Amino acid sequence: MTSSMPNVPATSAHYSGRAKRSNIRPPGPPWRTAIHNTWYCTHDVLGFLLNMHKQYGDVVAIPTLFGLFYAIFHPDGVRRVLQENHLNYDKDVPEKYLVKRIFGEGLFVNEGASWLRQRRLIQPIFHRQKIVGFGQLMTETTIRQLEQWETSGFVETGKPFPLTDEITSLTLHIVGNVLFGTDLGTETECIKQAFTTMNHVLTQACYQPWMLSLPTPQRHRLYRARNDLYASVEHIIRERRRHPEGHDDLLTMLLQAQDEEMGKGMTDEQVRDEVMAFLGAGHETTATTLSWTFFLLAQYPSIEARLQEEYQRVLNGHFPAAEHLPQLPVTRMVIEEAMRLYPPVWSLRRRARHGDEIGGYFIPKGAYIWLPAYVTQRHPAFWEQPETFDPQRFSTERAAKRPRFAYFPFGGGPRLCIGDQFAFCAAELILATVLSRYHLRLLPDTVITPDPLLLTLRPRGQLLMTLHRITPAPVP
Ligand code: HEM
Repeated sequence: MTSSMPNVPATSAHYSGRAKRSNIRPPGPPWRTAIHNTWYCTHDVLGFLLNMHKQYGDVVAIPTLFGLFYAIFHPDGVRRVLQENHLNYDKDVPEKYLVKRIFGEGLFVNEGASWLRQRRLIQPIFHRQKIVGFGQLMTETTIRQLEQWETSGFVETGKPFPLTDEITSLTLHIVGNVLFGTDLGTETECIKQAFTTMNHVLTQACYQPWMLSLPTPQRHRLYRARNDLYASVEHIIRERRRHPEGHDDLLTMLLQAQDEEMGKGMTDEQVRDEVMAFLGAGHETTATTLSWTFFLLAQYPSIEARLQEEYQRVLNGHFPAAEHLPQLPVTRMVIEEAMRLYPPVWSLRRRARHGDEIGGYFIPKGAYIWLPAYVTQRHPAFWEQPETFDPQRFSTERAAKRPRFAYFPFGGGPRLCIGDQFAFCAAELILATVLSRYHLRLLPDTVITPDPLLLTLRPRGQLLMTLHRITPAPVP
């Protein structure tokens, strides 16, 4: 399938590197609009990018006060950057230095041989078989959370239920239990708050980089949040060093990791940074996915009814286990479609190390590349009625007709999310466990818009719902 956008070549040959190198600059607004573009980006970046795509096509050069950004919306261009010519595109972008202030040299920002070594070290914990083994703990943790909702008086009372907040606590507990063998208990609130603060301050700092170089209140908040996290994570690591026996999880793997060249383990700081990065990446994205999923289902009761039918037929009154997941295709499609409309990692950034050609346009050395999944996943050439929530788009037959990079919520190529299977397993089990017992309804007159933060695309403000029991309750 090819795009109908006017500036997109009809075949992917232009993206393959075989096409004659072009010296044509991509279309885009003139430099005199740089202030306006920067303002628009800080106030409504999603609307701005949708508009750029509509106005200029699939590759757009956007002048801003921070330089020229090359936004790429076409799947073939995304493939070029993330997969085909990935060695030409590194992560040396300004946001990397913001993220590094908090997470150090974790897997997310690391590059080259050191990244590859780290990735190979960690990969085994995320193998599919291993993840299936985590399923029971994921469901059990979810059931405990449901019990708390009951005792907190959220069920059948009409009391507003803060969905994002509750689901974020749940996914944080799951990551703590499964990857670090620890019950985060009372620390959950503090960790959750610290990540939220960091996400907000880093987003502001993206557009006002001086903010973190001066003694501003934001800088103070950021470092206080980071220190809170350091304290929690160092506590987890200390406890594990004291009682290392009986665990087979990510933390064990990190602590046992031997640097083959140096012949010594990772430093305490490296382990701490990696634990922090996985705590953050592992819980927040999955919680965001589920928040949007419940929000969409509340507006599409017929799709929720299909899910209920799937649970009655397959689970037969029991809570789900990882072994059930292959028999729950509607659950999987619902989550995939929610991530299409609201990709938790809504855009990726790269820098071109050398000149390249994308979509028939010249991309100069040093160019900043912007890949907004939010726009590509609504590209009208690949998604019919893109604004409609239609999980059937992800049926095997329909998905096979789309190019691979029309949909990339987990990125792609060698930097593909290491936790994609973990995230699907957790999200599917949580959705099936919650919906086996409850309906969730939006409070009347709720208007929710996406809040594009530096790290995730959260619902703006509180997503308040009400919880209603489904009878009969499943057998544990
Ligand atoms: C719905 C859930 C998730 C989404 C949408 C998501 C999305 C992404 C994306 C788009 C990337 C690529 C970033 C880039 O190319 O610049 C990424 C990388 C990464 N993700 Fe996820 N992620 C999710 C869940 C998780 C989970 C559960 C974990 C771990 C427990 C995790 C850990 C990581 C790590 C460590 C990387 C860096 C991998 C590397 O560069 O080698 N993610 N994620």
